[in-house]
Amino acid sequence: MKKFARIIGTGSYLPPKVVTNHDLEKTLDTNDEWIVARTGISERRIVEEEGTCDLAVEASNNALEMAGIDANELDLIILATTTPDKIFPATATMLQNQIGATCPAFDLQAVCAGFVFAMTTAQQYIENGGAKKVLVVGSETISRLVDQNDRSTAILFGDGAGAIVLSADDETGILHSKICSDGRYLSSLQVSNNRINELGFIQMSGNEVFKIAVNRLSNLAETTLQECDMTTEDLTWMVPHQANIRIITAVAKRIKLPMEKVVLTLDKHGNTSAASIPLALDVAVRDGRIKKGDKLMLEGIGGGFSWGGLLVEY
Ligand code: UT7
Repeated sequence: MKKFARIIGTGSYLPPKVVTNHDLEKTLDTNDEWIVARTGISERRIVEEEGTCDLAVEASNNALEMAGIDANELDLIILATTTPDKIFPATATMLQNQIGATCPAFDLQAVCAGFVFAMTTAQQYIENGGAKKVLVVGSETISRLVDQNDRSTAILFGDGAGAIVLSADDETGILHSKICSDGRYLSSLQVSNNRINELGFIQMSGNEVFKIAVNRLSNLAETTLQECDMTTEDLTWMVPHQANIRIITAVAKRIKLPMEKVVLTLDKHGNTSAASIPLALDVAVRDGRIKKGDKLMLEGIGGGFSWGGLLVEY
C-alpha cells in the first residue's frame, strides 16, 4: 500500500535578541519606511552566542513534543542549513546527539530552498519504505554571513529554526513535490569568498533575484496545481519562503490567490533562509489557522538558483 509522508508535529525557535528597523537606522543609511515599503520587514532576530545547532535543538524538541514521539523513535534526521556550525561534522549529527536520537543524520544545502529540498528527500524515504518517522529541520544563523555595513542585505536577514516531524501514513500527507536548480546564476546571489577558510559575506543583485523569484515561483505554483488536478481555490494556505512581501504578493497575484490565504511572518522574522517556511508553518499551526485536512502549498527559492514547492494535506 502506498505510504504518504504526513506532518504530525511542528516546532520553531527564535533567538531572543530583536533588531528593529529603527535599530538599523542608527548604523546604516536606511530607514524604517523604506525597509517596510520595499520588503515588509519590521524586525528580525539575531543570534549572540547561540549556534545553528542550538536553535535546531529547541525547534526539534518542540516538534517532537507536538508529534508525541521520543527522539529515539526517529529513523532519519535531515537538517537544511546554509550556516552549519562547523564544516564537519554535519550539524545534523550534533543535533542527533543533543536530542537523544540514534538514527542517521545529515545536512542538506540548498540555501533558502533547503527546507523544501529536505522535505522532498524525506518524502522519498517514507514513500519507499526506508523510514517511518523523519525529523526535517531548517536552522540558520544567516546573520553570520551578512556584512552588517551593507544596507542591501543587513536589512533582510534574520536567524531562527523550524522543524517538522513526518510520519508514514496510509491516507494522506505530501501530495506533490518538485525541486529545481539552475546553476547559471552564481553571481546573482552568492557568498563572496572563494575558499572555505576565507571570510565571506552574502552578495546579491536584488533586482535580478526579485524578478527570477517571482517568475520561477509562480510558474512552479501553476504547474503544481495542474499536475494535482487542482485550482488555486482548492488551496487553504500558501506558506511561502519569507524573503520579501513584494515577491510573495506578486506570486499570489499571478496565481490569483487572495493574500488572506497567505501565511506571513516576515514582518517579525525577516528572511531566515532555510528556516523561514517551517517557522511560518509552526506559527500558523499553533495559532490555529492551519487545521487538519487543509491543503497547503509551500514554496521557496534561493541561491543557485535552487527552488521548489510542496503540496501538502495537513
Ligand atoms: O531569499 C532569497 C534571496 N533574496 C531575495 O529574494 C531578495 C530579492 N530582492 C529584494 O528583496 C529587493 O530587490 C531588495 C529589497 C533587496 C531591494 O529592493 P528594490 O526595490 O529592488 O530596491 P533597489 O535595489 O532597486 O534600490 C532602490 C533604491 C536605490 O536608490 P536610487 O538608486 O533609486 O536612488 C537604492 O540605492 O533604494 C536604495 N536603497 C536603499 N535605501 C534605503 C537600497 N537599499 C536601501 C536601504 N535603505 N536599505
